[in-house]
Amino acid sequence: MTQREVIIALDVPDRSSALALLQRFGQERPYVKVGMELYYAQGPDLVREIHDRGHRIFLDLKLHDIPNTVASALRGISRLGVDLVNLHAAGGLAMMRAAADALGDSPRPPRLIAVTVLTSLGQDALRDELWINQPLPDTVLHYASLAREAGLDGVVCSPQEAPVVHSHLGVDFLTVTPGVRFAGGAVGDQQRVTTPAQARELGADHIVVGRPITRALDPLAAYRRCLDEFVRR
Ligand code: C5P
Repeated sequence: MTQREVIIALDVPDRSSALALLQRFGQERPYVKVGMELYYAQGPDLVREIHDRGHRIFLDLKLHDIPNTVASALRGISRLGVDLVNLHAAGGLAMMRAAADALGDSPRPPRLIAVTVLTSLGQDALRDELWINQPLPDTVLHYASLAREAGLDGVVCSPQEAPVVHSHLGVDFLTVTPGVRFAGGAVGDQQRVTTPAQARELGADHIVVGRPITRALDPLAAYRRCLDEFVRR
């Protein structure tokens, strides 16, 4: 069983907003997620800077390309000192294997996980837009099984799918779960959501929380509420 973690999504447009947000956490050094918005604006230097300030980092770039390109990108990423990186399972088994092999050559490899089905997608979009006719949980489990076969460490999925992933692929196969909202909070563009407490009950390993913390009047209090519900209770 993996240590439960709350990862804060630093979905802000630039370095000054990112550092201002991190300051709101005082002496705490929360585990943070740097995604496309911040990375494409500021590049790897800011990732190194946040790492040097003592934060663990999930670099959420959701790589999706041919095997050689993804493997090469990961060789570069592995030198940034991040703890967790991801790609899209929809890139296929060969791509995931090439990615895992590329990180295997690194002296201190980050853990590698695969996005299964985005938590912003529901069953209707899966069928009508992506033309995947299988039930959504089966699709998540299928992608997760391929990820494990390729040697990855886990998956990104909704907390609702954590039980099926763990029961088929083992409790040590990491489930990293966005789509987390406080009871009564705004759902926004997410479809498959749970509260931090429900995510814990469902056995999610790491929750990724963005707007419920970053847009709160008191982000530190919102972060502590997540820790309380998800980690400490
Ligand atoms: O603001 P919110 O809590 O919805 O943020 C969720 C974060 O998790 C965003 O940064 C989003 O890009 C990311 N994410 C997601 N669904 C996935 C993978 C990542 O929402 N399947």
